[in-house]
Amino acid sequence: MELSDIESDLTSVLYTEEQIHAKIAEVARQVEVDYEGRDPLLVGVLKGAVMVMADFSRELKMSAAMDWMAVSSYGSGTKSSGVVRILKDLDTDLHGRDVIIVEDIIDSGLTLSWLLDNLRTRGAASVEIFALLRKPEAAKVQVDVKYVGFEIPNDFVVGYGLDFDERYRNLRGVGVLAPHVYS
Ligand code: XMP
Ligand code: MG
Repeated sequence: MELSDIESDLTSVLYTEEQIHAKIAEVARQVEVDYEGRDPLLVGVLKGAVMVMADFSRELKMSAAMDWMAVSSYGSGTKSSGVVRILKDLDTDLHGRDVIIVEDIIDSGLTLSWLLDNLRTRGAASVEIFALLRKPEAAKVQVDVKYVGFEIPNDFVVGYGLDFDERYRNLRGVGVLAPHVYS
């Protein structure tokens, strides 16, 4: 499939690569101030957060360790089940660590609220969240997110790590997936 075919599966582009990078730089400047003199551990949530983690971690002008978790709350569909399973756990001991969870998107909030509770029981000194995108209208539980990139409408979005059935992650921007693709 050509890139132009993939892009025609979008009804609109919400954010371009440039807009995303500018936002990530903004958040990085804030994190540098908030974590000055500390040694944060970035925890990326696979697979959606891969692009955010790659750009955010390299934008940070401070040492930051990195680890990954894979959890599943979605099948190949577009609705959250609320059931979270750990598919891959962290390799790092969290005792005394300042953890920043790096996420692509908060939809219902179910995944992150579960993850927050889970990581807090492991003895971390602090656990905060950076989510590139948040859908306020989709919230089923309130999650305290310290760093949010963009608030977006309640549409299914893809690109910049976000997939539908493992496709579209490699789009450089974020766009709304056309309903004809998944219905
Ligand atoms: P919840 O509903 O638990 O969802 O906050 C968290 C996870 O669901 C995925 N998700 C999406 N993936 N486009 C996607 O490609 C979307 O619009 C979308 N909404 C939720 C995502 O993996 C997120 O971490
Ligand atoms: Mg995700």
